[in-house]
Amino acid sequence: MGDVRCGNLFGMADTESSLVNRRIVLTERPNGLVGDYCLKTVEGPIPEAGEGEAIVRMAYLSVDPTNRVWMREEDSYMPAVPIGDVVRAAGLGVVVDTRCELYAIGDLVLGLLGWQDYAVIDAGEHAANVIPPGLPATDVLSIFGSTGLTAWFGVHDVAKLEAGETFVISGAAGGVGSVAGQLARIAGARVIGIAGTDEKCRWVVEDLGFDACINYKTENVEERVSALCPDGVDVYFDNVGGEILDAVLANLAIGARVAVCGAISHYTAESLPPVFNTFELVNKRARMEGFLLLDYLDRFIEAIGALLPLVLDGSLVYAVEVVEGLENAPATLNRLFTGEHTGKLLVKVSDAAD
Ligand SMILES: NC(=O)c1ccc[n+]([C@@H]2O[C@H](COP(=O)([O-])OP(=O)(O)OC[C@H]3O[C@@H](n4cnc5c(N)ncnc54)[C@H](OP(=O)(O)O)[C@@H]3O)[C@@H](O)[C@H]2O)c1
Repeated sequence: MGDVRCGNLFGMADTESSLVNRRIVLTERPNGLVGDYCLKTVEGPIPEAGEGEAIVRMAYLSVDPTNRVWMREEDSYMPAVPIGDVVRAAGLGVVVDTRCELYAIGDLVLGLLGWQDYAVIDAGEHAANVIPPGLPATDVLSIFGSTGLTAWFGVHDVAKLEAGETFVISGAAGGVGSVAGQLARIAGARVIGIAGTDEKCRWVVEDLGFDACINYKTENVEERVSALCPDGVDVYFDNVGGEILDAVLANLAIGARVAVCGAISHYTAESLPPVFNTFELVNKRARMEGFLLLDYLDRFIEAIGALLPLVLDGSLVYAVEVVEGLENAPATLNRLFTGEHTGKLLVKVSDAAD
């Protein structure tokens, strides 16, 4: 049995919990925040590797707004998660059983492993990437993972930010936003954040070196962007869409770039908020471009190589909060939508990668 091998390999006591695979599955399409009404925990035996497969014991889950996007009825850049399937999410784990040449026992792997204790991977659709040893697991899922890499490509490749420009970013105190704003500051831009609390605004200005930050819940964003950016916004890094996007579009500089990273204000909304100011793209000869980190897979090493020295010399800092327990994945996902966090959120499922 795969469970016996797992217990012996990783020093786990052969307790009942080590012998059970919990899977959190989608039972209906959520409306707003997720909860018991749309999710169910199903317990079963730990899977065994079939021919061409490997079994991964989950260590950390990445908590991403896109987890909620994938639960919606309609397909996005990936197909919607079918009702009855385990919730799709990126995760990091350790191979504990293998009948697949790609994976050896003990390999640290990163992939769409889902909200479960054990995942089955193979060389095809359910493949995962082997991560070289050396980096802390939490860094692999944050600064050197989707958070840091999305920030890097958004700032440098999509927005093509130049020194001396004015850079505005929404979701400024979140995982991607807090890193992207610092990368813009390091590139020599003037950086204005937009975030949902005074404490978040204080953090990005005082601790991360942004020049200013607007609390979109208490201030008029359009007026404040206008006051803070009298010559217009050269780059807007958009994490939220909706009304905030509209407010920044009204303040673009000639030749501005709007890098559309995400639109979190849409993900749980029943109807999409209207955006009125797109004609400003014409007036200002501006470019608005969406991007997906997935399209940069073959350049991840380049970005990690650029981020590493900034982390090592302390010029780039990042916040990671680890929440213990697979059972807390739904509540932790909801915090992305209520804003009750700063930086990157992870869920620790086991100590397999520690
Ligand atoms: N294109 C890509 O490849 C890619 C990759 C990764 C992530 N993303 C996108 O990047 C964005 C940030 O992702 P993340 O993982 O770093 O999440 P995050 O910013 O750490 O968390 C989301 C934040 O969004 C803010 N927010 C929630 N609802 C909002 C609303 N209705 N209006 C304005 N702000 C709202 C909250 O902060 P406040 O307290 O400030 O409201 C919350 O903390 C998301 O849109 C995500 O989909 C895109």
